[in-house]
Amino acid sequence: MEPAVRAAAASCSSYSSLHPPRALVARRLGRSSGLSLPARRVAVAAAAIALDPFQETKSEQNDTSETEVFACPVCYEPLIRKGPPGMNLPAIYRSGFKCSKCNKSFTSKDVFLDLTVTSGMKEYSELKPARTELFRSPLVSYLYERGWRQNFNRSGFPGRDEEFQMAQDYFQSVAGGILVDVSCGSGLFSRKFASSGAYSSVIALDFSENMLRQCYDYIKQEETPMNTNLALVRADISRLPFASCSIDAIHAGAAIHCWPSPSNAIAEISRVLKPGGVFVATTFLSTPTNSGLFSIDALKPLRQIVGPVNSSYNFFTEGELEDLCRSCGLVNYSSKVQRSFIMFSGQKP
Ligand SMILES: C[S@@+](CC[C@H](N)C(=O)[O-])C[C@H]1O[C@@H](n2cnc3c(N)ncnc32)[C@H](O)[C@@H]1O
Repeated sequence: MEPAVRAAAASCSSYSSLHPPRALVARRLGRSSGLSLPARRVAVAAAAIALDPFQETKSEQNDTSETEVFACPVCYEPLIRKGPPGMNLPAIYRSGFKCSKCNKSFTSKDVFLDLTVTSGMKEYSELKPARTELFRSPLVSYLYERGWRQNFNRSGFPGRDEEFQMAQDYFQSVAGGILVDVSCGSGLFSRKFASSGAYSSVIALDFSENMLRQCYDYIKQEETPMNTNLALVRADISRLPFASCSIDAIHAGAAIHCWPSPSNAIAEISRVLKPGGVFVATTFLSTPTNSGLFSIDALKPLRQIVGPVNSSYNFFTEGELEDLCRSCGLVNYSSKVQRSFIMFSGQKP
């Protein structure tokens, strides 16, 4: 193989080259590369194999395995993984994932693995409620840990370090297992869970591409070793890309009030938790100031009428949160409240 061909093919599989589109690779290998036409064809084919890990070659066949955790968001079958093993960023980035039932492929986009149902769709696009879309903005993602989140302290949130410690206390019985930080935002807690060394893997999951990019930037700045067991995954809370009974711990910091359907989300969380698995979440309790008239019991039915045209957050009373956990099959409900801050927990029986 000519050296330029080898170099071009190698660069396609390196972590830092971040999967250049096939057309770009072809352009890079065009006339200006100085290669002869047959050599260019070999180089483009080699690059294409590196870009599509499911392209079968004899030497790569051994790298195919059923994934330990990831499942198809369409049918929940475990995904087949092709690439280096491990739940760290470089290994996941260099792997391709495929559902053998739906024949749908999933790859890393930028820095995260996209496991939404819409992953790879070209024509269809979908708008979520404003409380979800808001956090997809690059500006909000940038500002989130630079002042936005700190504002929650005024409502009683104890702050990152104390909330982390409180959550760790709830997770004691599942230490050593797989933790998913759902709706992780910029990963302020995912990074702490990962560097605590208390879990075999930490999956930072969010619907916002920009929050996940921001999380990646913080990981780089903090010089968290890239081979730390931390994965970045884009997914919808109502369609978690995990098999049933496969996850030990789920954390959802300040997120339930942003979800399109909290009941579908908690049902999903309950589905994926292993027996004995623990769910811990924080949110703002509904108060007369943040929910206005709707916080008064007698006026709650009005929320059904006005809710659809009101794009603001969904705040709940403690009774509603407990009801939600219980009706989704979680037991041992417990909570800690400080002004309108609540941390609550439930367990999969
Ligand atoms: C207020 S932030 C919370 C971030 C972080 N967990 C914390 O404790 O500060 C809410 C997060 O929920 C995410 N979110 C909203 N709708 C979602 C959905 N349908 N699926 C997954 N995440 C969603 C947003 O992208 C945002 O990052």
